Amino acid sequence: MSAPGSWSLPSLIEAVSPVLPGFTAEVLPEVDSTNSELMRRARAGDTRPTLLVAERQTAGRGRRGREWHSAPGDSLTFSLGLPLAPASWSGLSLAVGVAVARALHPDIGLKWPNDLWLQGRKLAGILVETASVVDRPGADPGPDRSPVRYAVVGVGINIAPRPPGEALATPSAALRELWPQAEAAAVLARIASPLAEALRVFDRQGFAPFEDAFRAHDLLQGRTVTLSDGTVGTARGVDGSGALLVHTAAGLQTVSSAEVSVRPSS
Ligand code: BTN
Repeated sequence: MSAPGSWSLPSLIEAVSPVLPGFTAEVLPEVDSTNSELMRRARAGDTRPTLLVAERQTAGRGRRGREWHSAPGDSLTFSLGLPLAPASWSGLSLAVGVAVARALHPDIGLKWPNDLWLQGRKLAGILVETASVVDRPGADPGPDRSPVRYAVVGVGINIAPRPPGEALATPSAALRELWPQAEAAAVLARIASPLAEALRVFDRQGFAPFEDAFRAHDLLQGRTVTLSDGTVGTARGVDGSGALLVHTAAGLQTVSSAEVSVRPSS
């Protein structure tokens, strides 16, 4: 676990505030899930741009109802919540992946839709959730009380290797393989501003500004993939909305992240 004070929240807040006005950040010694906590706060009317770091999550969540396990000190688990109003939400998790990978190391690849991989193993995962909430619930009805969409971007990164012998569905990588002195607080300091900036860009321009960078990191390009309905095909990159293009026996299929999981065939 990072030593008390090592998270340097004042400098993090100072760095991110110009990008996200009203930004605040907190370290929680323990919480069920930073995503769940930000969703609860937003539903209770707190829609400030907020970064929550957990030193320990007791019920960390992954995509598709999976659990996200992490040991204190061995991983960085945080969520950034903020009101967003993009013209289209397509490709948000891909844009987040691009921002996090670029902030960390050029050798990190992206496995559509939202995993960061290193040398054939999973290094990090992203869980994006949104809620329609009423801003300022105490305010009088009228223009002051408008519904807003609050997005919560959760990121879990393995910092230290998992203990040997631990059975995992997907073999994992750790950031210390690239950066031997990596500590969760320093990793967060490196990611927070680029992530905030990427979210602001996505809010205004959608996925388009991230398309080329995603292609440069795309691990599935040209690989044989199996969709969760059993269809097999060859990954052909992403379209302008971030949907995966898969060349199958039936032709080119467009796969959106909500529909399927994708794994490289063995
Ligand atoms: C995945 O790989 O399926 C996504 C994993 C996302 C894990 C992070 S850890 C911080 C945040 N809080 C959660 O409960 N989940 C995300």
